[in-house]
Amino acid sequence: MTRTVYVNGEYLPETEAKVSIFDRGFLMGDAVYEVTSVLDGKLIDFEGHKNRLERSLKELDMTAPVTMDELLEIHRKLVELNEIDEGGVYLQISRGADDDRAFEYPDPEKVKPTLVLFTQKKNLRNSASADKGYKVISIEEMRWARRDIKTVQLLGASMAKMAAHKVGCDDAWFVEDGYVTEGSSNNAYIVKDGKIITRQLSNKLLAGITRAAVLRFAAEAQMQIEERLFTIEEAQAADEAFSTSATAFVQPIVEIDGATLGDGTPGPVAKRLREIYLEEAMKLAV
Ligand code: PDD
Repeated sequence: MTRTVYVNGEYLPETEAKVSIFDRGFLMGDAVYEVTSVLDGKLIDFEGHKNRLERSLKELDMTAPVTMDELLEIHRKLVELNEIDEGGVYLQISRGADDDRAFEYPDPEKVKPTLVLFTQKKNLRNSASADKGYKVISIEEMRWARRDIKTVQLLGASMAKMAAHKVGCDDAWFVEDGYVTEGSSNNAYIVKDGKIITRQLSNKLLAGITRAAVLRFAAEAQMQIEERLFTIEEAQAADEAFSTSATAFVQPIVEIDGATLGDGTPGPVAKRLREIYLEEAMKLAV
């Protein structure tokens, strides 16, 4: 089935949607994005994604071409038009297309941002990966210094995932100055003696919307949380590990750089957090 996508004010079949070759998203990676999951036809944590999008735009002196209320309406319309029961909506805003390539930002009065949205159908709730658990490798951090901004400069993430796949693993955790920053497209956690440990927020990692929700739900469930640095060695000696993202929710991890965690199956804390997340996130879905 041909998807209906959104480009700069128009709903079009995906085969007819076009963006200029001079678009700065294409030439310079000068674009920000969000991925919002859909469960039972509803958007999960739209508010969180909207707030982070506004922050990303502000950090890059960009403005959205539509209001945030309009963005919500576009999300909803695409979900409806494409009959998305389970999956997600990808949104990208680039600084737009000038009439040539240049490093300097173009005059925002002259060049309007490019807004693109499309949907993806995917099984999210019942996931074989969640049942089995991921094997991850560590990889030296190689991305830029503003990982707190959700830009489309994702080659480092792609390279890390490919490196993991090459050695029969599922994902990679970046390590900088000896400490884990985050996963290739997710936030990283370990569990030791019942305590959930995850790196504190800074420009070195993305402030995951799922991270914020999971930590909130964990605190409400009286679980202990510690936001601090941790090493791969500490992770290998942990009872459990997991990652979080909008598309994978809570993904258990059963192996890190060849070291098996626990009995090699998803741990109880990760499994419980996945359940709580799915239950609580649905209550706030719009
Ligand atoms: N990735 N860290 C990185 C580097 C990410 O790319 C992501 C999300 C996260 C988790 O953020 P959130 O919980 O808001 O999804 C952390 C998305 C899913 C992606 O690129 O497809």
